[in-house]
Amino acid sequence: MKKSILTVLITALSLPVIADEGMWTLPLLKQQKFADMQALGLKLQDYDIYSPDSSSLKDAVVIFGGGCTGEVVSPEGLILTNHHCGYSWIQQHSSLEQDYLTNGFWAANREQELPNPGLKISFIDKIEDVTEYVKTALATNNDPNSMNFLSPRYLANLAKEKAGEAFLRNNPGTEVEIRAFYGGNQYYMFTKKVYSDVRLVGAPPSSIGKFGADTDNWMWPRHTGDFSVFRVYADANGNPSDYAETNVPLRPKRWLTISLKGVQEDDFAMMIGFPGRTNKYYTSWEVAERRDIDNAVRINIRNLRQQVMLEEMLKDPVVRIQYASKYAGSTNAYKNAIGSNWAINKRNFEQVKKAEQDKLIEWAGKNGKPEEYKEALLMIEQIVADGKDLRFRNWMLDEAIIRGIEFLRAPAGIDSVIIALNGKNKAEQQSKIRLLELAYHRFADKDYAPEVDKKIAKVMLKEYRKLVPAKWQPAYFSTIDKRFKGDTDRFVDYIFEKSIFGSDANFNNFVHHPSVKALKEDPMILFVTSIQNEKKQLTGALMEFDADYAFAHRNYVKGLLEMYGDKANFPDANSSLRLTYGQIKGYNPRDAVYYEYQTTLDGVMEKEDPDNWEFVVPDKLKELYAAKDFGRYQTPAGKIPVAFAATTHSTGGNSGSPVLNNNGELIGINFDRNWEGVGGDIQYLPDYQRSIIVDIRYVLFIIDKYAGASYLLDEMRLVE
Ligand code: ARG
Ligand code: GLU
Repeated sequence: MKKSILTVLITALSLPVIADEGMWTLPLLKQQKFADMQALGLKLQDYDIYSPDSSSLKDAVVIFGGGCTGEVVSPEGLILTNHHCGYSWIQQHSSLEQDYLTNGFWAANREQELPNPGLKISFIDKIEDVTEYVKTALATNNDPNSMNFLSPRYLANLAKEKAGEAFLRNNPGTEVEIRAFYGGNQYYMFTKKVYSDVRLVGAPPSSIGKFGADTDNWMWPRHTGDFSVFRVYADANGNPSDYAETNVPLRPKRWLTISLKGVQEDDFAMMIGFPGRTNKYYTSWEVAERRDIDNAVRINIRNLRQQVMLEEMLKDPVVRIQYASKYAGSTNAYKNAIGSNWAINKRNFEQVKKAEQDKLIEWAGKNGKPEEYKEALLMIEQIVADGKDLRFRNWMLDEAIIRGIEFLRAPAGIDSVIIALNGKNKAEQQSKIRLLELAYHRFADKDYAPEVDKKIAKVMLKEYRKLVPAKWQPAYFSTIDKRFKGDTDRFVDYIFEKSIFGSDANFNNFVHHPSVKALKEDPMILFVTSIQNEKKQLTGALMEFDADYAFAHRNYVKGLLEMYGDKANFPDANSSLRLTYGQIKGYNPRDAVYYEYQTTLDGVMEKEDPDNWEFVVPDKLKELYAAKDFGRYQTPAGKIPVAFAATTHSTGGNSGSPVLNNNGELIGINFDRNWEGVGGDIQYLPDYQRSIIVDIRYVLFIIDKYAGASYLLDEMRLVE
């Protein structure tokens, strides 16, 4: 008895990790966390989840597109992910006449599935610890300031070298990469198979898939059916191939079993996916910097920009479709920044990190360690202080101008066109003009509304000039001062009136009468070029801090690993495959309020507001609700479950991640995090942080009862 209490105490003391915190790498799962998972209720063996040599659950988890996760749910390559992950693809197939965003889309057969050139799905075939390999290679470099140890390019070359050219040549679609973990204290190599024929199979209407939209985004209790359905195709041999009519559905190594049993409070749950980026190992100074510069700039600028966008979207249904995806992307990070600052202040993250730093210094002192951790921390403090102004300028330039104004993407690199026009070769001239035409249409694409961009640019430039001291503004602003008496509104009007990229008419006019003079004096090209120069300069100046920072950060993390023992620490997210586990749980957001772990269709009806686009409920859903036509998807209490909350430690990139029960069966698809947990990218809060997961029974209910696409369920393996 005594002994076991002592053991518990010792374990508790040696573990810095709070229950449920952590995004664990699969190769280390067995040694780091597996016993814990079983104690929480997991019934599987470690090799059921991850096995280097045979098929395991991880084989059913894929990278979906640029920044989401997906899972395979049928032997015919059917993939589930979030509606918001499929959103831009669904949007690209949509027009006013055929509006899949508003109405949803369901392919009635394979022929109707829609190809999405550019969309990729990757499987992780192999994970290897290559720490020694990388360190050996790094040791051959005698530049003490070399940043190779974090350089994606350097690591990519090493990966190719290790895999061998022949291997890559003989395995089309196979890619290898090496990623740094723990700030460059450890390295893993990933061998991926990348499929590029991915077709849209189904999506609910936005009134289900995006129900609650921005008001509810990052919020619990939540009522969004945030899922969409895709299918991976391969050539006849099962190898990756670009879209071809002859391609066939991929026969995957592994697909998930789907549970209809549902979830209860305190049940074990785990999530496998590709979390993008966290900053658990921030120092107190970086926390303050994040709050006072990064987040503060983002919150201020995006708020202004979104106001204009929203106004235009509400005025004009064409603009609504054009800007839907841009708007959603913008507000998502905006609201995240607000939540992040809220947590930083409310839960005193600066103090939390400070305490960790002090603890390390004390521990190092007692353990006869040299001064290096103290030095590392001093170095970081100094870098943050010295880089403050540059960082502010860089964030302002990015948020207000480079990301804020769309015409910054106009094709301003026109040197080769000028050279051709100055020459005599007619064919060469025509080919350059033709290329410029393509570039122009890539920029002014079907989703670009110059009138909207113009309005936004005016607001952005005003705010930029208000907040960034004149001496730090790009050179071109003095021209604006001279020619327009500092009136940036007039300058923006002038740009759109005069630039060859200001309208289709202007551009066509240029194509018919191309002239070097027009290009050289083009105000949009001049402005964009001056912003690009400023960005280059700022990036260069900031880079001077990079190496010092990277070394100091690596040392600091090394210190923490030494102090706590590496079993108890997880590396910051880096878009690599991770597992997080915990329990299904509600929480207490504030005094006297308890949020339950599950929401139901009742809540959708409660939130319904036909006059507010965010909370419109489709008629068909209301009919099913009224008729209680719930089939086998209802809870024992006769309700349709919509979403549930779990203590798993997830972040951006985990969208679309499968959430599995103690048998490894699919119970939901992760799609968001609660407001109170947004700060978890810096510090996990067990009492506050929850993943928001769409209940798989809601997904099946919508596919079957709402969309009448039950033929899709026939491919799946459902267990009661
Ligand atoms: N907050 C979720 C994530 O970070 C969902 C975003 C999509 N929804 C939206 N309204 N923007 O990606
Ligand atoms: N919605 C996020 C994503 O797209 C997941 C939510 C989070 O950040 O935890 O990955």
